[in-house]
Amino acid sequence: MFPCLFSMISKKQSTIHIIPLIEREKNSKSKKPIIKPYILYNSLLLLSFILWFLILFLCFPKSTLTNSDNQTNNLVTTCDGPPYVYVYDLPPEFNLGLLEDCRHLSVYTDMCPHVANRGLGRQVSTISTAANTWFATHQFIAEMIFHARMENHPCRTRDPNIADLFYIPFYGGLHASSKFREPNITERDALAVRLVDYIQSQPTWWKNKGRDHFLALGRTAWDFMRNNANGPDFGANCLLTLNAVQNMSVLTVERNPWAGLNQFGIPYASYFHPYTSDEMKTWQNKMRHSDRPHLFTFIGAPRKGLEKAAIRNDIIQQCDMSSKCKLVNCRGEQGKECYDPGQVLRIMSESEFCLQAPGDSFTRRSTFDSILAGCIPVFFSPHTAYTQYFWYLPEKARDYSVYIDEKGEERKRIEEVLLKIPREKVKKMRERVVKLIPKLTYKHPNSTDFHFKDAVDVALAALYKRVSSSVGVGGGDDLSL
Ligand SMILES: *[C@@H]1O[C@H](CO)[C@@H](O)[C@H](O)[C@H]1NC(C)=O
Ligand SMILES: *[C@@H]1O[C@H](CO)[C@@H](O)[C@H](O)[C@H]1NC(C)=O
Ligand SMILES: *[C@@H]1O[C@H](CO)[C@@H](O)[C@H](O)[C@H]1NC(C)=O
Ligand SMILES: *[C@@H]1O[C@H](CO)[C@@H](O)[C@H](O)[C@H]1NC(C)=O
Repeated sequence: MFPCLFSMISKKQSTIHIIPLIEREKNSKSKKPIIKPYILYNSLLLLSFILWFLILFLCFPKSTLTNSDNQTNNLVTTCDGPPYVYVYDLPPEFNLGLLEDCRHLSVYTDMCPHVANRGLGRQVSTISTAANTWFATHQFIAEMIFHARMENHPCRTRDPNIADLFYIPFYGGLHASSKFREPNITERDALAVRLVDYIQSQPTWWKNKGRDHFLALGRTAWDFMRNNANGPDFGANCLLTLNAVQNMSVLTVERNPWAGLNQFGIPYASYFHPYTSDEMKTWQNKMRHSDRPHLFTFIGAPRKGLEKAAIRNDIIQQCDMSSKCKLVNCRGEQGKECYDPGQVLRIMSESEFCLQAPGDSFTRRSTFDSILAGCIPVFFSPHTAYTQYFWYLPEKARDYSVYIDEKGEERKRIEEVLLKIPREKVKKMRERVVKLIPKLTYKHPNSTDFHFKDAVDVALAALYKRVSSSVGVGGGDDLSL
């Protein structure tokens, strides 16, 4: 760094030398003066050139050597931070240790194939030629990928004294889903309580009383906000209601839009985990130029008895009746297609609009699949995206999405609403959607292309902004989180 700076300064100096020299030369020629100053200036010019080349030689050969001989090493130290991030080395019971019993990590399904490859899942070869960048990634696994990314992140620091942010790599979502059927509340909450005790026993916590700490969770906030007072208990634990957690930032794929002031939406992980910005650009171009014979598509299952999801029945009925809609009913015979990343992306990349109706909760991984496929999302609730992903999505919802109020009249005429949008506008929206892809992607944890900013980089930058503005002046205690 320093020698390069020096060479730039000397480059400037030599230019300063050259300009007056040439002017003088002209002058002197016209006046035909004595030869002495001419030689003096020429040798000065020569000298500054020699000096310049010497400095260039001293500076650049070194960096080119490091570049070619030890590329990874050279790149890994490339942090354009702050923030510098300290990653807690937690006891294994809070993260990797949980994976040993991956068969029982979810009460619904065997998670072993899904936790493979640090949470990317098994590789999928059917989508594009760059086979090592596509995975059958599980929808609730972002916390593992986040952890893997952070371990290799260029801005990771081992020195807590210079860290701006402290990341607690707790696999809270995986643990929660293993305890949904645990009737004993104390048992269900035990690990979250131990985590908070552990963190508060660290001196690093007390420097800012946790305000520079954050969690990243791959399940929705509802799974960690058990409300003992009301309603049926579906198996949630108490993690996000613990006192210490109020001082942290919590990244989650779905925040509680009303009570989640310290919760921030991060993207669900989709299937594309590229290493390089070239791989990303190639994919973006492919989606830009994809043929889209279907006006709209819905991939999903009906839900019984859930008021949030009532719109799904309307959608399925309308889609079924329209020749312009491609319906994949995940409850029916096509059900298998819903879990095949290649099929999901193919169908979405052949559609102009992708309907994103609330399901078991407001948000869906499908929103991120559709953006990845360049398919313009159609939302029916503001909480499916607009109140969730402030760090990631454009402020103007209409620039990249369509909103049809789930309680309004328009919901009965989806096809008509979509047909009314002018072609030019659709084209603009598609371009906006395609441009969002990199930020919403979790790149491969072993990627060394640090020029391409992904979902994790966006989150770190936003966290830094939040934390430095609150810890900032005098490190005061009267912070409103
Ligand atoms: C490159 O850097 C790595 C990590 O520091 C080191 O282990 C390796 O020996 C280096 N390779 C060369 C060719 O210098
Ligand atoms: C990243 O590279 C390391 C070292 O080559 C390898 O062991 C690991 O499996 C890779 N990670 C992933 C997610 O493929
Ligand atoms: C619940 O679990 C705790 C801790 O394991 C135990 O002390 C308690 O007796 C259990 N409660 C019931 C009702 O079984
Ligand atoms: C959270 O922050 C407040 C205000 O700085 C502080 O008084 C409190 O002790 C902190 N809580 C914990 C559990 O550290």
